[in-house]
Amino acid sequence: MKKINIAIDGTSSTGKSTLAKQIANKLNYIYIDSGAMYRCVTLYAIQNNWLNTSRFDKEPLIGSLPNIHLKFALNEKTNDQTIFLNGVSVENEIRSMEVSNAVSRVAAVPEIRKAMVRLQHDFGKDKGVVMDGRDIGTVVFPNAELKLFLTCSAKVRAQRRYEEMQQKGISVSFDQVLSNIKSRDHLDSSRSDSPLIKASDALEINTENRSVDELLGQVLELISSKINS
Ligand code: CDP
Repeated sequence: MKKINIAIDGTSSTGKSTLAKQIANKLNYIYIDSGAMYRCVTLYAIQNNWLNTSRFDKEPLIGSLPNIHLKFALNEKTNDQTIFLNGVSVENEIRSMEVSNAVSRVAAVPEIRKAMVRLQHDFGKDKGVVMDGRDIGTVVFPNAELKLFLTCSAKVRAQRRYEEMQQKGISVSFDQVLSNIKSRDHLDSSRSDSPLIKASDALEINTENRSVDELLGQVLELISSKINS
């Protein structure tokens, strides 16, 4: 059957990854979480003491990009697909508030974006990929056969993310989550390289009052019309 690439963009916690994973499961597509890639680069910078709340030494990080190896693979312990940074599964580490609070500064650096986009192109070259992020429909796959742009109010998004973090046992307050989401919304939308914007040919969907199943049903219909067109 014909395979297509699907780009899902939007701000934090709009339901992109939930939808993307379900599409990938249903269609046997590869799911790529592009945000996890920027989170790994951020973690690497923190581990090397190049990045903290007051300082960001970009040059050594840019110089080390060839030493940062990223791969998506099954984590045998959790039976989930996770990202590996230089051979180590870092799924929990990259979801920490420390990384969340720093990642948008790292993701604004053009050299870093260039390296990530190169890898993302490679992942999508044979089609059959569903990728979520901020610039997938505009920069990474401008020719994706289906582009979705998910929206939802900041308060509902923060509540979703807060509950997710509680379940994972991460100690954080609702206000910290809300403030992180708002600050990333601002940085991601106002940066000069590949800002978060809706591609002109993306379908905008508000996920605030939609069940996961309802949304998936609508999107699967759209995909099937693209595949059969
Ligand atoms: O999980 P959540 O939606 O909160 O964020 P994410 O998808 O893990 O992305 C983390 C951060 O990476 C975003 O806030 C952006 O700063 C950056 N990012 C990006 O610049 N471009 C992408 N394609 C994906 C993420």
